[in-house]
Amino acid sequence: MSLIFCSRTDDPEEWRAAFAGHLPDLEFRVWPDVGAEEDVEIALVWDPMEQQLLRFPNLKLIASLGAGVDHLLAATTLPEGVPMTRFVDDNLTQGMREWVLLYTLYCHRRVPEYLAYQRAQDWHRLAAPFSYERRVGMMGLGVLGAASAKPLQDIGFEVIGWSRHEKDLPGVKSYAGAAALDEFLAASDILVCLLPLTPATEGIIDQRLLGALPQGACLINGARGGLVVEADLIAALESGRLSHAVLDVTRKEPLPVDDPLWRAPNITITPHVASITNAQSGARLVAENIRRVRAGEVPHHIVDPEAGY
Ligand code: NAP
Ligand code: GLV
Repeated sequence: MSLIFCSRTDDPEEWRAAFAGHLPDLEFRVWPDVGAEEDVEIALVWDPMEQQLLRFPNLKLIASLGAGVDHLLAATTLPEGVPMTRFVDDNLTQGMREWVLLYTLYCHRRVPEYLAYQRAQDWHRLAAPFSYERRVGMMGLGVLGAASAKPLQDIGFEVIGWSRHEKDLPGVKSYAGAAALDEFLAASDILVCLLPLTPATEGIIDQRLLGALPQGACLINGARGGLVVEADLIAALESGRLSHAVLDVTRKEPLPVDDPLWRAPNITITPHVASITNAQSGARLVAENIRRVRAGEVPHHIVDPEAGY
């Protein structure tokens, strides 16, 4: 059995070494050195090109190197009937949990304002509410949203969540579907976005949504840039409707030097590093799915191409 590795950003040698420990009999090929196309049964992909995956007539599994598959679904024609799995891994989850906790506290404890006072050599104290006086709204209560909610609850925040289907997470009030969105937003002092980018969520964070948040709310987006109408976000920051935004993701990545987001007031940008795919733990999970495919079992974490996640 052969695997074709299709990523222009991930290091193939790291993945080759990681797979050798789990599936020593797997032949690991790296695009464009595809060899005999009919041998390839597994594609491990981050950014496949249009038509690329159609070259392999015996493909049995397309394994995404990312948790989000929006770019994959948009960029390439998928061979019919081949399951696509997304990346779900404890280390990826831990990375996002840390990033969300870090930037929620950063907003809650007004770190950006203290940094500005420090630059001005101004010893200035600000009011500090307790965590239990702040409500965090988690947009997206899937693998990452649910896991990120827990440490926030543990240090006292009231966490509420919004998803497509109703959830039953201990202590997290669940809001489901479009009809519940405004009620959820009105109760979100800090809005954390961990939604997938799909046709239903593209541009969801727009002027209307930002206007439904409490005055002076904060936005933390660790999901995808395409969820945000960036001009509307800048306007909300300029008007003070939002007091701060933290973005790990932007529509254009890397963010061009002349992009207005860099110069928006009260914004913190990290370069899509909230949680990075780890080859060691990732290969173990993909190997388990390959084992399942070989045994004729259904792989874990299959993407629903209709829903887009
Ligand atoms: P997931 O398990 O698929 O969870 C997605 C959540 O969003 C689910 O709760 C789902 O609702 C909800 N949702 C989807 N469409 C919705 C809609 N139209 N309305 C309301 N809720 C909707 O995904 P995940 O593993 O948590 O990952 C989330 C996203 O994080 C990924 O798609 C990726 O883009 C991003 N990500 C970013 C980084 C980074 O480094 N910045 C790293 C990893 C992932 P249901 O539960 O009801 O289906
Ligand atoms: C990273 O952004 C991912 O989707 O895993």
